[in-house]
Amino acid sequence: MDHQVVVVGGGPGGYACAIRCAQLGLSTALVEKGPLGGTCLNSGCIPTKALYAATRLVAQAGTAGEMGIEIGPATIDLPKLAEWKDGIVSTLVTGIATLLEKNGVDVFRAHARLDGPGRVVLSTGGSLSAERIVLASGSLPIAIPGFSFEDPRIWSSDDALNLPEIPARLTVIGGGVIGLELATIYARLGSTVTVLEVLPEILSTVDLDRRTLSVLKRSLAEQGIEVLTGTAAESYEPSPDGLLIHLRDGEPIESDRILLAVGRRPNSSDLGLETVGIEPDRRGFLPVDAELQSSEGGVHAIGDVVPGPMLAHKASTEGIALADSFDGRPISIDHDSIPQAIFTDPEIASVGLSEKRANEAGHEVLVGRFPYAALGKALGMREPNGFFQVVADANDHRILGAQIIGAEASDLISEAALAVQGGLTIEAIADAVHAHPTLPEGLKEAAENALGRAIHTVNR
Ligand code: NAI
Repeated sequence: MDHQVVVVGGGPGGYACAIRCAQLGLSTALVEKGPLGGTCLNSGCIPTKALYAATRLVAQAGTAGEMGIEIGPATIDLPKLAEWKDGIVSTLVTGIATLLEKNGVDVFRAHARLDGPGRVVLSTGGSLSAERIVLASGSLPIAIPGFSFEDPRIWSSDDALNLPEIPARLTVIGGGVIGLELATIYARLGSTVTVLEVLPEILSTVDLDRRTLSVLKRSLAEQGIEVLTGTAAESYEPSPDGLLIHLRDGEPIESDRILLAVGRRPNSSDLGLETVGIEPDRRGFLPVDAELQSSEGGVHAIGDVVPGPMLAHKASTEGIALADSFDGRPISIDHDSIPQAIFTDPEIASVGLSEKRANEAGHEVLVGRFPYAALGKALGMREPNGFFQVVADANDHRILGAQIIGAEASDLISEAALAVQGGLTIEAIADAVHAHPTLPEGLKEAAENALGRAIHTVNR
């Protein structure tokens, strides 16, 4: 064996796993065919958040007159915006390369395939052998019949993040997380955006309460983003004026570009799974047990390629826990305390159970809410839209979940995630002193509201 661990895939799951393995003194190799950092860093979380921040400035500049500050409409230098965003990505990619090197991980730039137990072959020639192989190959965007990414007018999220142009009309197929985040960015850049969602509700894969979705839908409408639910896109054809999108029911829609965001699939093909007898499930996920071990003893898998939410922080949590388990520490990941953050305007973040799911699970619940409009800090930021919600078990007051829709929700959810993971009670948040004036006060007030003792809102 030339290594103790070989990790296939250098995304947030794979690189975190490799670094922790090396920290534990295991001789570790990482094989990555693309840029280090995977989808999250190169064509997902990071570029999206850079563009989210940049385009938020565009939106804020347009309305700063409300505060007596006239900036006027922003002009956008698209190549420069793309260069700025790419600079952030490349800084972080270089950082990961340095971390891998300084920790002593051997990095191979190649496509790796399993080649029987304990062995991977590299597309660049040669092979590696290891006691343990970790598959962290991530996921890929799904296309749907009638639409192909071969046509440059049909964008994947990767294409949209490359900022090739600002289309006058952009139709987003898929009202999920990616579709709505990119709809937000392109609407702020000036496109007229329409979102087509086949199901009766947007964000149906995320556990959100109706109240939260109502705030989002109202805000999307205010931003000029039209959302057509219960609408299946079936095919498209060129038209004299752009593209004509045919729907299963209803009149066709004219557009200049189409962004397909109808989900992602696990990247489990061409991994040589057959050489060790691992069979992906019907949807392509690699089945693993609680120890993140596949059906073949020495092969483990983490991240988007195994079942569970496709989130970078879920992948890195699994990667680090798996590495620690190689050192004898049992894996214990509390999936209920994995937060999710969605970068729409306003942002949405959640952890644990929604009120609906808590009721369905048989809990008698205490629910507290607090509006952004009652937070001094939020008003000073011109961010009055949204609310905080906490859900606790009515018997033992343990916090079951939280949802925040509003400015900086993605940052604010961490306190609630800590509470859910730590099994804290609603009193723990209500009694903790929060600095004033800050946005986290909203979570404290929501907890106090659940206990019927909020100061800054009328208790129910
Ligand atoms: P998704 O599963 O969240 O949403 C896809 C949507 O497309 C679904 O609502 C589906 O009903 C709809 N759809 C499918 N076929 C359609 C058709 N023919 N016409 C109209 N609508 C159709 O998938 P998405 O947004 O592509 O994201 C993929 C994964 O990446 C998800 O697991 C997501 O959670 C994750 N992700 C998470 C982020 C975050 O947490 N901020 C950011 C980006 C991705």
